[in-house]
Amino acid sequence: MNSKTKIYLSFVYILFFLVLIITGYNYISNFYLINIVFLFFTVLLVNNFSMFFNSMTEITTSMNLPVLLTCFWILNPFWVGVVATLGSIEFKNQKLGFVWYKFLFNRSSIFLASVSGALIFNLTRPVLDGGSFPILSALFASIVYFLVNNLLVYIVVNLADNDVNQMSLLSYFRELSKNLITSYFLGLVLLASYMYFSKVLFVLVIILLFIIKDFFYSRLQQMNSYTQIIESFLKVIDSKDHYTEGHCERVANYTYHLCNEMNLSRAKSEKIISIAKIHDIGKIYVDDDILRSSDRLSEREYQEIKRHTEYGYQLLKDIDLINDELEIIRYHHERWDGRGYPKGLKGEKIPVGARILTACDSLDVMITGRTYKPPMTKEEIIEEFKKCAGGQFDPEIAEKMIKLIRDGYFDDKFKSEEKIRELELSLEY
Ligand SMILES: [Fe+2]
Ligand SMILES: [Fe+2]
Repeated sequence: MNSKTKIYLSFVYILFFLVLIITGYNYISNFYLINIVFLFFTVLLVNNFSMFFNSMTEITTSMNLPVLLTCFWILNPFWVGVVATLGSIEFKNQKLGFVWYKFLFNRSSIFLASVSGALIFNLTRPVLDGGSFPILSALFASIVYFLVNNLLVYIVVNLADNDVNQMSLLSYFRELSKNLITSYFLGLVLLASYMYFSKVLFVLVIILLFIIKDFFYSRLQQMNSYTQIIESFLKVIDSKDHYTEGHCERVANYTYHLCNEMNLSRAKSEKIISIAKIHDIGKIYVDDDILRSSDRLSEREYQEIKRHTEYGYQLLKDIDLINDELEIIRYHHERWDGRGYPKGLKGEKIPVGARILTACDSLDVMITGRTYKPPMTKEEIIEEFKKCAGGQFDPEIAEKMIKLIRDGYFDDKFKSEEKIRELELSLEY
């Protein structure tokens, strides 16, 4: 530990003892034991039963503040400090080795923050909220608690570690402020259940919040690993098939607009868009020479390329997170009229995600062109979709696609006439 940190820690400890003595002197004799014991156990419980809403950031916030809002209402600042300080001791961390100065620092910062919050609450309540529900004073108290606690921690982190953890103060607080807002609203819910109902409801609400939290948390974790899988596959595809680099991402972007236009449910759209990002993953099994060939493909080569739909499906089918929409990959080259591959499925037998993907996949080919085919203009593409509605494309989807193109959703993607002519000329030589 460097000397600056030592001086700072000593300063915090002294401040802690000073405030403890001053508030104790003023408030220690004023208490109602049942309330103190009840709130102490509540704080202890929420601190030792997994952390709350910390899934989006590395920084953890507990349910401390929400419960403290009720403490502000019931207890005086000294007892708020005592309950918060003792209640926030986490047993599970102590196993890693007890470091007395860290322990004391954590207690000090929580005591100082909760006492400041309680004092602000008491000061602002008569002015801002009068006799009504303390919406504003609770807000100010939450902000003060949050600022004092995090500022004390921020300083010690930056003093102790000069190279690591140098997060700017602004971004540190920006990240944390999300937690503040959540904590504040949860705190209001808890306070209202205590004020207008009973301790029983107060505890029930806390339990309910934990259940919701677990649900959200596992869902978020699941989504994160899902996105990671998709992103890694995307890299693999791009490294394999340079000519179509970015193809899958562009297709996913068109898919996003088309799903919106079709009013699909959010969950369904998200799945289709994710699959769109990796729809050509099967190409990693196709011979490099065939993929990169700039000549027209021979029949044998074409047959080999066609197998990418099945390869992709086989590759991913064992991943539980993805596999309920995998049919989209398998059937993204099917045609509405039944003349596509691999199965020759017809009409609505083709999953809607695959029908959407076919349209978006083709749109990208039309926009970017291929080695043997120049890109098409906006008007030509609209004509193509009209012509192929009911043939290659689901008529309804083709119609929606034309609308999106006409409305200018993809205007930044189309190549200019001059550029297309240039490309045409280069193809002729
Ligand atoms: Fe494909
Ligand atoms: Fe594709």
